[in-house]
Formats: sequence, structure tokens, C-alpha cells
Amino acid sequence: MSTPPDRTPLLTVRGLSAGYGEMLVLHDVALEIHPTEMVALVGSNGSGKTTLLRALSRVLPCTGSIVMNGHELLGMTPDQAFGLGLVQVPEGRQLFDRMSVQDNLLMGAYRRADKATVARDLDRMYALFPRLSDRRRQLAGSMSGGEQQMCAMARALMAAPVLLMVDEMSLGLAPVVVEQLMEVLAGIRRDGVTILLVEQDVQLALSGADRGYVLETGRIVHGGTARQLIDDPAVKRAYLGL
Ligand SMILES: Nc1ncnc2c1ncn2[C@@H]1O[C@H](COP(=O)(O)OP(=O)(O)O)[C@@H](O)[C@H]1O
Ligand SMILES: [Mg+2]
Repeated sequence: MSTPPDRTPLLTVRGLSAGYGEMLVLHDVALEIHPTEMVALVGSNGSGKTTLLRALSRVLPCTGSIVMNGHELLGMTPDQAFGLGLVQVPEGRQLFDRMSVQDNLLMGAYRRADKATVARDLDRMYALFPRLSDRRRQLAGSMSGGEQQMCAMARALMAAPVLLMVDEMSLGLAPVVVEQLMEVLAGIRRDGVTILLVEQDVQLALSGADRGYVLETGRIVHGGTARQLIDDPAVKRAYLGL
């Protein structure tokens, strides 16, 4: 799907720089995400992808500008950004291992006051992930990697995200599980959620996305439609093993 230039982006990032202490990791990052797009942010391990997500969700200080739905996020707390619908599925899932699946899902909705809708959304999650429905009383930490990833995604969806940022969803999971999760993302997106898919698996991310950005040592070095990136000789050589 192409992005008509007249549409206002949901998220506009300009001149973003961030790092840890004295060490600058991200340099002058710029990107745009339009409503209901699936955008891939790809790059090797250590290129700065998670650092960028931390900056966007306001966990990490940064300079530059991050505008979502007309709001400048730079002065906001993580909770305020979350309240605008900027929700992350973190790398490594970061579930509450000693809590049940259901309690993990309810934690995702902690900010919401509309209890009736929360109950309805819980049912929706169990319909979306039947394996979680079977395991709703099980401790999250006792499940398989794939089930934990489903739980992390369902927890994030319980927050009613506007922009869902998914960090290394496929890492360590069997291809058949990854395929299921990609289908779930496609469905979520059809429901109107915008998705930023952050992956080391460049092939996977570009296969599902409309557009993508390639991050190398903290700089965006390529951007375009997924097709353009897949066909780009430099991207092919560096990331697609072609
Ligand atoms: N908490 C941290 N403290 C210091 N350096 C960090 C920290 N987290 C990540 N880094 C460094 O920042 C760079 C980018 O890391 P990261 O954003 O995790 O990359 P990616 O998610 O693309 O694998 C790496 O050099 C990494 O060592
Ligand atoms: Mg990472």
C-alpha cells in the first residue's frame, strides 16, 4: 500500500539523537508513520533499534522532535505517551512471570477506566489467541516462548494502542509460530492499529510491511517502500544474503 502525501502522519520523528551517558547511539533520526501503516524498522543487532523505541516511548531522554497525533512527546513522561496510545511489546517479552496469563493481560489495561470494555477486550484477546484462553490461569513464565510472545502482544493490545511498536517479535521462535504472529499483526492492523515492526530479521519484517527504514550504527541509511528496499542492491547484499 502506498502512502498518499496529503495524509498527515500519525508519528513524525525529526532530528532525534539519544544515547547512554556520554555515548551517543542515535544520530539525527527522522521517520514518519502514517495511520494504519505497517512500517518495518530493521537493522543488525546493536544498530540502535531498541534505543529508538525507548526514546519514542520516553523511557530514554533524547533531543529532536517526536510528534504523535499533533502532540510533541519530548516533554512527556512514559505514562503520558502511553496514554496517547503509544504502546510497546518489549524485546524479550518482559512478562510478569509469576502472574497468571489473565493478570498479565489485565496489567495491560491498568490505565483504562472503562471496565465493561476491558472485559470485552479480554474476550477478544482469548478469541485472537486461543492458546492463551486455555492457559489463562497458568503462570506466564511457565509457558513456551511462542505463548509468552502471544501473551506480551495481548497485554499490549489490552492497552488499546493507536501505535503498536513490536520489538524483535520473531527472535528465538519457530517459523510456524512467527507466521501465526504475523497473521495476528495483519488482523490488528485491519482493525485500524498502526504498527512499527522492529526486527533483526530483515526479510521477515519487509515481507509484512508497507514501508521500511534501515538503521545502521544509529543512523537511518535507507528508507522506502518494502518493495524498494527488498530490491535495493545494498540492502540485498547486507541483509538478505542475496
Ligand atoms: N542500557 C544501556 N547502556 C549502555 N549502552 C547501551 C544500553 N543499551 C544498549 N546500549 C548500546 O546501544 C547500542 C544500540 O543498542 P540497541 O538499541 O539495543 O540495538 P538493537 O536493538 O538494534 O540491537 C549498542 O551499542 C548497545 O551496546
Ligand atoms: Mg533490540
